[in-house]
Amino acid sequence: MRIIIVVGARPNFVKVGPLMPALSRAGIDARLVHTGQHYDAGMSDVFFADLAIPQPDWFLGVGSGTHAVQTGKAMIALEELFIAEKPDAVMVVGDVNSTLAGALAASKIGLPIVHLEAGLRSGDMSMPEEVNRLVTDQLASLLLTPTEGAGQNLRHEGVDEGRIEFVGNIVAESVLKALPLVERRDVAAREALESKSYIVATIHRPENTESPQSLSAIARALSEAQLPVLFPIHPRTRDRLEAFEIELGPNVTPLGPLSYLDMVVLERDAAACVTDSGGVQEEACVLGTPCVTVRRNTERQVTVEIGANQLVSPIVPEILAAVESATDSGRTWSAPERWDERVSERTVEALLRPIASR
Ligand code: UD1
Repeated sequence: MRIIIVVGARPNFVKVGPLMPALSRAGIDARLVHTGQHYDAGMSDVFFADLAIPQPDWFLGVGSGTHAVQTGKAMIALEELFIAEKPDAVMVVGDVNSTLAGALAASKIGLPIVHLEAGLRSGDMSMPEEVNRLVTDQLASLLLTPTEGAGQNLRHEGVDEGRIEFVGNIVAESVLKALPLVERRDVAAREALESKSYIVATIHRPENTESPQSLSAIARALSEAQLPVLFPIHPRTRDRLEAFEIELGPNVTPLGPLSYLDMVVLERDAAACVTDSGGVQEEACVLGTPCVTVRRNTERQVTVEIGANQLVSPIVPEILAAVESATDSGRTWSAPERWDERVSERTVEALLRPIASR
Protein backbone atom coordinates (compact mmCIF):
# COMPACT_ATOMS: atom_id res chain seq x y z
CA MET A 1 0.00 0.00 0.00
CA ARG A 2 1.30 3.47 -0.89
CA ILE A 3 0.01 6.51 0.92
CA ILE A 4 0.97 10.16 0.87
CA ILE A 5 0.63 12.02 4.18
CA VAL A 6 0.12 15.78 4.00
CA VAL A 7 1.55 17.99 6.76
CA GLY A 8 2.04 21.74 6.89
CA ALA A 9 1.86 23.28 10.33
CA ARG A 10 3.20 22.71 13.84
CA PRO A 11 0.22 20.73 15.19
CA ASN A 12 0.43 18.37 12.18
CA PHE A 13 4.06 17.49 12.90
CA VAL A 14 3.15 16.43 16.46
CA LYS A 15 0.53 14.05 15.03
CA VAL A 16 2.72 12.27 12.48
CA GLY A 17 5.65 11.79 14.91
CA PRO A 18 4.51 8.44 16.33
CA LEU A 19 2.76 7.40 13.12
CA MET A 20 5.73 7.16 10.75
CA PRO A 21 7.55 4.29 12.58
CA ALA A 22 4.26 2.37 13.01
CA LEU A 23 3.53 2.64 9.28
CA SER A 24 7.02 1.54 8.36
CA ARG A 25 6.86 -1.48 10.77
CA ALA A 26 3.63 -2.54 9.04
CA GLY A 27 5.30 -2.36 5.61
CA ILE A 28 3.11 0.52 4.44
CA ASP A 29 4.94 2.74 1.96
CA ALA A 30 4.15 6.14 3.49
CA ARG A 31 5.63 9.30 1.95
CA LEU A 32 5.47 12.72 3.54
CA VAL A 33 4.68 15.99 1.81
CA HIS A 34 5.27 19.25 3.71
CA THR A 35 3.26 22.10 2.21
CA GLY A 36 5.48 24.75 3.82
CA GLN A 37 2.58 26.47 5.64
CA HIS A 38 4.95 26.75 8.62
CA TYR A 39 8.46 27.38 7.37
CA ASP A 40 10.51 29.03 10.16
CA ALA A 41 13.12 26.71 11.69
CA GLY A 42 11.51 27.21 15.12
CA MET A 43 8.01 26.38 13.84
CA SER A 44 8.99 23.46 11.60
CA ASP A 45 12.57 22.00 11.51
CA VAL A 46 12.90 21.69 15.27
CA PHE A 47 9.68 19.62 15.39
CA PHE A 48 11.02 17.19 12.80
CA ALA A 49 14.20 16.83 14.88
CA ASP A 50 12.45 16.45 18.28
CA LEU A 51 9.89 13.97 16.97
CA ALA A 52 12.44 12.07 14.82
CA ILE A 53 10.21 12.52 11.76
CA PRO A 54 11.94 11.52 8.51
CA GLN A 55 12.68 14.43 6.19
CA PRO A 56 9.67 15.11 3.94
CA ASP A 57 9.86 13.54 0.47
CA TRP A 58 8.49 16.80 -0.96
CA PHE A 59 8.49 20.39 0.31
CA LEU A 60 6.04 22.66 -1.51
CA GLY A 61 7.00 26.03 -0.02
CA VAL A 62 3.51 27.59 -0.03
CA GLY A 63 4.31 29.91 2.92
CA SER A 64 1.97 32.47 4.50
CA GLY A 65 -0.94 34.33 2.94
CA THR A 66 -4.67 34.80 3.24
CA HIS A 67 -6.64 31.61 3.79
CA ALA A 68 -7.58 31.33 0.12
CA VAL A 69 -4.07 32.07 -1.13
CA GLN A 70 -2.46 29.59 1.28
CA THR A 71 -5.06 26.85 0.66
CA GLY A 72 -5.14 27.48 -3.09
CA LYS A 73 -1.37 27.38 -3.54
CA ALA A 74 -1.19 24.14 -1.56
CA MET A 75 -4.03 22.60 -3.60
CA ILE A 76 -2.36 23.39 -6.91
CA ALA A 77 0.96 21.88 -5.85
CA LEU A 78 -0.65 18.87 -4.16
CA GLU A 79 -2.83 18.06 -7.18
CA GLU A 80 0.24 17.96 -9.40
CA LEU A 81 2.01 15.68 -6.93
CA PHE A 82 -0.95 13.31 -6.46
CA ILE A 83 -1.41 12.97 -10.23
CA ALA A 84 2.28 12.19 -10.72
CA GLU A 85 2.56 9.77 -7.78
CA LYS A 86 -0.85 8.03 -7.95
CA PRO A 87 -0.91 6.88 -4.29
CA ASP A 88 -3.53 4.38 -3.08
CA ALA A 89 -4.74 6.95 -0.54
CA VAL A 90 -3.97 10.39 0.87
CA MET A 91 -3.85 10.94 4.63
CA VAL A 92 -4.53 14.36 6.10
CA VAL A 93 -4.24 15.18 9.81
CA GLY A 94 -5.81 17.76 12.11
CA ASP A 95 -7.60 20.88 10.92
CA VAL A 96 -5.18 23.39 9.42
CA ASN A 97 -5.36 24.91 5.94
CA SER A 98 -2.95 22.25 4.62
CA THR A 99 -5.39 19.56 5.82
CA LEU A 100 -8.21 21.11 3.81
CA ALA A 101 -6.00 21.62 0.75
CA GLY A 102 -4.93 17.96 0.82
CA ALA A 103 -8.51 16.73 1.15
CA LEU A 104 -9.85 18.96 -1.65
CA ALA A 105 -7.05 18.17 -4.08
CA ALA A 106 -7.32 14.41 -3.46
CA SER A 107 -11.11 14.29 -3.69
CA LYS A 108 -11.21 16.10 -7.05
CA ILE A 109 -9.05 13.41 -8.61
CA GLY A 110 -10.86 10.54 -6.92
CA LEU A 111 -8.24 9.44 -4.39
CA PRO A 112 -9.50 7.96 -1.09
CA ILE A 113 -8.86 10.29 1.85
CA VAL A 114 -8.03 9.22 5.38
CA HIS A 115 -8.54 11.88 8.06
CA LEU A 116 -6.67 11.43 11.33
CA GLU A 117 -8.37 13.46 14.12
CA ALA A 118 -11.79 13.42 12.47
CA GLY A 119 -15.06 14.49 14.06
CA LEU A 120 -13.95 17.28 16.42
CA ARG A 121 -16.46 20.15 16.40
CA SER A 122 -16.52 23.52 18.16
CA GLY A 123 -19.80 24.54 16.54
CA ASP A 124 -18.15 27.90 15.73
CA MET A 125 -18.09 28.59 12.00
CA SER A 126 -16.07 31.78 12.51
CA MET A 127 -13.03 29.55 13.23
CA PRO A 128 -11.09 28.67 10.07
CA GLU A 129 -10.31 25.28 11.65
CA GLU A 130 -14.02 24.44 12.03
CA VAL A 131 -14.56 25.01 8.29
CA ASN A 132 -11.50 22.87 7.56
CA ARG A 133 -12.78 20.08 9.83
CA LEU A 134 -16.30 20.03 8.39
CA VAL A 135 -15.23 19.98 4.75
CA THR A 136 -12.43 17.46 5.29
CA ASP A 137 -14.76 15.06 7.10
CA GLN A 138 -17.37 15.32 4.33
CA LEU A 139 -14.74 14.33 1.79
CA ALA A 140 -12.94 11.58 3.74
CA SER A 141 -13.46 7.86 3.11
CA LEU A 142 -11.96 6.78 6.43
CA LEU A 143 -12.48 8.94 9.51
CA LEU A 144 -10.15 8.15 12.42
CA THR A 145 -11.53 9.71 15.60
CA PRO A 146 -9.75 10.74 18.82
CA THR A 147 -12.77 10.38 21.16
CA GLU A 148 -16.16 8.66 21.35
CA GLY A 149 -17.75 12.14 21.17
CA ALA A 150 -16.05 12.84 17.83
CA GLY A 151 -17.62 9.66 16.43
CA GLN A 152 -21.04 10.79 17.71
CA ASN A 153 -20.60 14.15 15.97
CA LEU A 154 -19.96 12.35 12.68
CA ARG A 155 -22.96 10.02 13.11
CA HIS A 156 -25.18 13.06 13.75
CA GLU A 157 -23.92 14.50 10.47
CA GLY A 158 -24.93 11.30 8.67
CA VAL A 159 -21.50 9.74 8.15
CA ASP A 160 -21.79 5.96 7.59
CA GLU A 161 -20.71 3.86 10.55
CA GLY A 162 -18.41 1.84 8.27
CA ARG A 163 -16.25 4.91 7.60
CA ILE A 164 -15.66 5.76 11.29
CA GLU A 165 -12.92 4.16 13.39
CA PHE A 166 -12.24 5.19 17.00
CA VAL A 167 -8.43 4.99 17.14
CA GLY A 168 -7.84 7.43 20.02
CA ASN A 169 -5.80 10.61 20.34
CA ILE A 170 -2.43 10.58 18.58
CA VAL A 171 -1.39 13.77 20.45
CA ALA A 172 -1.54 11.72 23.67
CA GLU A 173 0.71 9.05 22.16
CA SER A 174 3.24 11.71 21.14
CA VAL A 175 3.39 13.20 24.63
CA LEU A 176 3.52 9.85 26.40
CA LYS A 177 6.38 8.72 24.16
CA ALA A 178 8.22 12.02 24.73
CA LEU A 179 8.10 11.73 28.53
CA PRO A 180 10.97 9.24 28.98
CA LEU A 181 13.08 11.33 26.58
CA VAL A 182 12.68 14.49 28.66
CA GLU A 183 13.05 13.00 32.13
CA ARG A 184 16.21 14.98 32.84
CA ARG A 185 15.92 17.64 30.16
CA ASP A 186 17.03 21.12 31.16
CA VAL A 187 15.06 23.94 29.55
CA ALA A 188 17.11 27.13 29.62
CA ALA A 189 13.99 29.29 29.30
CA ARG A 190 12.73 27.95 32.61
CA GLU A 191 15.68 29.45 34.50
CA ALA A 192 15.51 28.52 38.18
CA LEU A 193 11.75 28.08 38.42
CA GLU A 194 10.73 25.08 40.54
CA SER A 195 8.10 22.58 39.41
CA LYS A 196 4.52 23.75 39.95
CA SER A 197 5.67 27.31 40.72
CA TYR A 198 4.92 28.89 37.34
CA ILE A 199 2.31 29.13 34.59
CA VAL A 200 2.96 28.45 30.92
CA ALA A 201 0.85 30.46 28.46
CA THR A 202 0.35 30.32 24.67
CA ILE A 203 -2.04 32.51 22.67
CA HIS A 204 -2.30 32.63 18.88
CA ARG A 205 -5.92 32.33 17.70
CA PRO A 206 -7.24 35.20 15.60
CA GLU A 207 -10.27 35.59 17.94
CA ASN A 208 -7.76 36.68 20.63
CA THR A 209 -4.88 38.19 18.65
CA GLU A 210 -6.91 40.30 16.24
CA SER A 211 -8.95 41.99 18.98
CA PRO A 212 -6.99 44.68 20.89
CA GLN A 213 -9.52 44.37 23.70
CA SER A 214 -9.15 40.59 24.09
CA LEU A 215 -5.39 40.57 23.66
CA SER A 216 -4.87 43.33 26.21
CA ALA A 217 -7.22 41.59 28.70
CA ILE A 218 -5.21 38.36 28.32
CA ALA A 219 -1.91 40.26 28.71
CA ARG A 220 -3.23 42.03 31.83
CA ALA A 221 -4.49 38.80 33.39
CA LEU A 222 -1.11 37.13 32.82
CA SER A 223 0.64 40.20 34.25
CA GLU A 224 -1.58 40.14 37.37
CA ALA A 225 -1.25 36.38 37.99
CA GLN A 226 0.17 35.32 41.36
CA LEU A 227 2.84 33.14 39.74
CA PRO A 228 5.57 33.85 37.16
CA VAL A 229 4.40 33.22 33.59
CA LEU A 230 6.51 31.69 30.80
CA PHE A 231 5.00 32.90 27.53
CA PRO A 232 6.27 31.30 24.28
CA ILE A 233 4.94 33.71 21.67
CA HIS A 234 3.65 32.81 18.19
CA PRO A 235 5.01 35.19 15.51
CA ARG A 236 1.58 36.68 14.82
CA THR A 237 0.91 37.29 18.53
CA ARG A 238 4.27 39.06 18.88
CA ASP A 239 3.37 41.22 15.91
CA ARG A 240 -0.07 42.11 17.34
CA LEU A 241 1.29 42.88 20.83
CA GLU A 242 3.67 45.36 19.22
CA ALA A 243 1.06 46.81 16.87
CA PHE A 244 -1.46 47.37 19.71
CA GLU A 245 1.35 48.60 22.05
CA ILE A 246 0.39 46.09 24.73
CA GLU A 247 2.89 45.75 27.60
CA LEU A 248 3.55 42.61 29.63
CA GLY A 249 4.20 42.78 33.38
CA PRO A 250 7.57 41.90 34.96
CA ASN A 251 6.32 38.44 36.04
CA VAL A 252 5.77 37.48 32.38
CA THR A 253 8.80 36.16 30.46
CA PRO A 254 8.24 36.39 26.71
CA LEU A 255 9.94 33.56 24.79
CA GLY A 256 10.30 32.66 21.12
CA PRO A 257 8.38 29.61 19.85
CA LEU A 258 9.65 26.55 21.77
CA SER A 259 10.72 23.17 20.50
CA TYR A 260 8.31 20.28 21.07
CA LEU A 261 10.35 18.60 23.81
CA ASP A 262 10.98 21.88 25.67
CA MET A 263 7.26 22.59 25.58
CA VAL A 264 6.43 19.14 26.96
CA VAL A 265 8.81 19.78 29.91
CA LEU A 266 7.32 23.21 30.62
CA GLU A 267 3.74 21.88 30.43
CA ARG A 268 4.56 18.84 32.60
CA ASP A 269 6.04 20.98 35.38
CA ALA A 270 3.70 23.98 35.23
CA ALA A 271 1.13 24.68 37.93
CA ALA A 272 -1.31 25.49 35.11
CA CYS A 273 -1.42 26.15 31.36
CA VAL A 274 -3.26 29.15 29.91
CA THR A 275 -3.91 28.73 26.20
CA ASP A 276 -6.13 28.98 23.16
CA SER A 277 -4.34 26.12 21.37
CA GLY A 278 -6.07 22.79 20.73
CA GLY A 279 -2.90 20.76 21.24
CA VAL A 280 -1.97 22.36 24.56
CA GLN A 281 -5.45 21.55 25.98
CA GLU A 282 -4.83 17.89 25.13
CA GLU A 283 -1.19 17.76 26.21
CA ALA A 284 -1.97 19.38 29.58
CA CYS A 285 -4.77 16.85 30.10
CA VAL A 286 -2.42 13.92 29.49
CA LEU A 287 0.36 15.43 31.60
CA GLY A 288 -1.95 16.09 34.56
CA THR A 289 -1.55 19.88 34.46
CA PRO A 290 -4.79 21.89 34.87
CA CYS A 291 -5.60 24.02 31.82
CA VAL A 292 -7.42 27.33 31.34
CA THR A 293 -8.59 27.87 27.76
CA VAL A 294 -9.34 31.44 26.71
CA ARG A 295 -11.94 30.86 24.00
CA ARG A 296 -15.67 31.02 23.36
CA ASN A 297 -15.85 27.26 22.82
CA THR A 298 -13.66 24.23 22.33
CA GLU A 299 -13.73 21.21 20.05
CA ARG A 300 -11.84 19.38 22.83
CA GLN A 301 -14.93 19.28 25.11
CA VAL A 302 -13.85 16.00 26.63
CA THR A 303 -11.06 17.81 28.51
CA VAL A 304 -13.64 20.16 30.07
CA GLU A 305 -16.07 17.32 30.87
CA ILE A 306 -13.48 15.39 32.90
CA GLY A 307 -12.36 18.50 34.82
CA ALA A 308 -8.93 18.93 33.18
CA ASN A 309 -9.79 22.20 31.43
CA GLN A 310 -11.84 25.36 32.09
CA LEU A 311 -13.19 27.53 29.30
CA VAL A 312 -13.12 31.30 29.99
CA SER A 313 -13.79 34.55 28.13
CA PRO A 314 -10.98 37.04 27.56
CA ILE A 315 -12.00 39.06 30.63
CA VAL A 316 -9.37 39.80 33.29
CA PRO A 317 -11.23 38.65 36.47
CA GLU A 318 -12.56 35.52 34.71
CA ILE A 319 -9.10 34.45 33.61
CA LEU A 320 -7.58 35.20 37.02
CA ALA A 321 -10.28 33.26 38.91
CA ALA A 322 -9.86 30.25 36.62
CA VAL A 323 -6.07 30.34 36.93
CA GLU A 324 -6.32 30.50 40.71
CA SER A 325 -8.68 27.53 40.92
CA ALA A 326 -6.54 25.60 38.39
CA THR A 327 -3.30 26.12 40.33
CA ASP A 328 -5.05 25.14 43.60
CA SER A 329 -6.66 21.99 42.27
CA GLY A 330 -3.84 19.91 40.74
CA ARG A 331 -4.69 16.68 38.89
CA THR A 332 -8.14 15.23 39.64
CA TRP A 333 -8.86 13.29 36.44
CA SER A 334 -7.80 10.27 34.42
CA ALA A 335 -7.07 10.65 30.70
CA PRO A 336 -9.96 9.91 28.30
CA GLU A 337 -10.36 6.47 26.73
CA ARG A 338 -7.73 5.56 24.11
CA TRP A 339 -5.52 8.56 24.84
CA ASP A 340 -2.66 6.09 25.11
CA GLU A 341 0.43 4.78 23.33
CA ARG A 342 -1.43 2.47 20.92
CA VAL A 343 -3.12 5.06 18.69
CA SER A 344 -0.63 4.65 15.84
CA GLU A 345 -1.10 0.85 16.00
CA ARG A 346 -4.90 1.20 15.76
CA THR A 347 -4.42 3.63 12.90
CA VAL A 348 -2.29 1.11 11.02
CA GLU A 349 -4.89 -1.66 11.65
CA ALA A 350 -7.60 0.60 10.23
CA LEU A 351 -5.48 1.40 7.17
CA LEU A 352 -4.83 -2.27 6.44
CA ARG A 353 -8.56 -3.04 6.17
CA PRO A 354 -10.18 -2.21 2.83
CA ILE A 355 -11.15 1.48 2.78
CA ALA A 356 -14.90 1.77 2.08
CA SER A 357 -15.48 4.05 -0.89
CA ARG A 358 -17.76 7.02 -0.40
C1 UD1 B 1 -2.06 27.57 12.03
C2 UD1 B 1 -3.40 26.82 12.05
C3 UD1 B 1 -3.89 26.71 13.49
C4 UD1 B 1 -2.83 26.09 14.39
C5 UD1 B 1 -1.55 26.92 14.27
C6 UD1 B 1 -0.45 26.35 15.14
C7 UD1 B 1 -4.82 27.25 10.06
C8 UD1 B 1 -6.05 27.90 9.59
N1 UD1 B 1 -4.42 27.56 11.31
O1 UD1 B 1 -2.31 28.87 12.49
O2 UD1 B 1 -5.04 25.88 13.52
O3 UD1 B 1 -3.28 26.11 15.73
O4 UD1 B 1 -1.14 26.89 12.89
O5 UD1 B 1 0.68 27.19 15.17
O6 UD1 B 1 -4.22 26.49 9.33
N2 UD1 B 1 4.35 32.67 10.57
C9 UD1 B 1 5.70 32.82 10.71
N3 UD1 B 1 6.49 31.72 10.50
C10 UD1 B 1 5.99 30.51 10.13
C11 UD1 B 1 4.60 30.38 9.97
C12 UD1 B 1 3.80 31.47 10.20
O7 UD1 B 1 6.20 33.87 11.03
O8 UD1 B 1 6.78 29.55 9.99
C13 UD1 B 1 3.48 33.85 10.82
C14 UD1 B 1 3.16 34.60 9.55
O9 UD1 B 1 3.09 35.95 9.87
C15 UD1 B 1 1.79 34.08 9.20
C16 UD1 B 1 1.18 33.86 10.58
O10 UD1 B 1 2.27 33.41 11.39
O11 UD1 B 1 1.09 34.96 8.41
C17 UD1 B 1 0.08 32.86 10.60
O12 UD1 B 1 0.52 31.59 10.09
P1 UD1 B 1 -0.55 30.56 9.48
O13 UD1 B 1 0.05 29.25 9.16
O14 UD1 B 1 -1.30 31.21 8.40
O15 UD1 B 1 -1.56 30.33 10.68
P2 UD1 B 1 -1.30 30.06 12.23
O16 UD1 B 1 -1.84 31.22 12.97
O17 UD1 B 1 0.09 29.64 12.54
